[in-house]
Amino acid sequence: MAVENASGRALRVGIAGLGTVGVGVVRLLEENRDILLQHCPWPIEVTAVSARDRRKNRDVDLSKYDWVDDPVALASHPKVDVVVEVIGGSSGPAKLLIEKAIANKRHVVTANKALLAEHGTVLARSAEKAGLALAYEAAVAGGIPIIKSMREGLAANRIEHVYGILNGTCNYILTQMRETGREFADVLAEAQKLGYAEADPSFDVDGIDAAHKLSILTSVAFGVAVNFDGVRISGIRNVSAADIAYADELGYRIKLLGIGRKSPHGIEQRVHACMVPAASTIAKVDGVYNAVVTNGNFVGENMAIGRGAGRGPTASAIVADLMDIARGRILPAFSAPAETLEPARQAPVGLHAGSYYLRLMVVDKPGVIADIAGVMRDESVSMEAMIQRARSPGEAVPIVLTTHETTEAAIGRVVARLANVNSILEPAHVLPIETLS
Ligand code: HSE
Repeated sequence: MAVENASGRALRVGIAGLGTVGVGVVRLLEENRDILLQHCPWPIEVTAVSARDRRKNRDVDLSKYDWVDDPVALASHPKVDVVVEVIGGSSGPAKLLIEKAIANKRHVVTANKALLAEHGTVLARSAEKAGLALAYEAAVAGGIPIIKSMREGLAANRIEHVYGILNGTCNYILTQMRETGREFADVLAEAQKLGYAEADPSFDVDGIDAAHKLSILTSVAFGVAVNFDGVRISGIRNVSAADIAYADELGYRIKLLGIGRKSPHGIEQRVHACMVPAASTIAKVDGVYNAVVTNGNFVGENMAIGRGAGRGPTASAIVADLMDIARGRILPAFSAPAETLEPARQAPVGLHAGSYYLRLMVVDKPGVIADIAGVMRDESVSMEAMIQRARSPGEAVPIVLTTHETTEAAIGRVVARLANVNSILEPAHVLPIETLS
């Protein structure tokens, strides 16, 4: 049944931000107008737009739309029912625009993961109180409809874990490193030249972007308040070509994963590079692709793979949200009503149980293995496999080992004690091994 919207004729959209994504939304609404009309009771029309530079050539005709210099003015524009916020940033105009839009009874569609990670619960409460949509499919894994999937298709399940490849830049860099044997810095520089990585890549390569997305997924999966500060974050800067080669040899691939998981000690949220079995499906998700895996107690495991960024995928997600609003389908932003979202009990990091990979650069001389084994014995960490390549005595040589299941705290103690062993030349290179079954 068609539900009449505020205008009674069309869903009128104001777009704040006319970069790659904003222009993508304009184009999709134009090019796929017939498809949208097939599916939606009301047309979706852009009526007003705002961006920093009016004169910039954007290869799209914007002359039919009202131009607004101040994006925040879209929140009170008389011809706007829904504000699409694609400015970005967790504060400043993006936040002000969304707060004002909700106060002025406008629906909001945003791709802003940083803002939702930091203020999502509060914004969702205001939107829900006002009966408005705060929709953000584009914020998590771009074109993959994972929020809709979790909030609707999987909603009847108790979710045990949600994890995935949530950053295409990192996945591209790790894939290139594996395929070419080159080091991180080299591949990053090339990715920047090709436009696959930002000039300032830190949000991506340090894991922050993935952590923003993970904190949102965790909230939807487990019915808890968004808690970005509770995510333990590390990125991929320290992954070396040597670790990638050893991963291959041991039957693993290295991926940057975001992992939200219920453990007996509370909820774990982690973003880090880790080894995953080479035979697993997620190990084969390469290049700029994203993937999200959920496990529900009745449905079992589900995996979605797709493009996590870019004009087309992001516009696709934004317009799907607009279509929901046009159809009158307005669900609580994080699935459970925002009023009920409480902070989660966080699992202490040290209690995380799992296996680990360690690479130690040592001086090849008698007793080194005994020293390492002694430290591991003292900390009750059991070795699973070990690789040492022969070299001339006295030279630096890598010793690679994997452990049986232990705790993060025990590995931390092992690493700290190994740092005091004279024949070990540099801090241990450590990667968790994730089997996630
Ligand atoms: N920069 C992100 C990525 C996309 O590389 O996946 C936007 O979050």
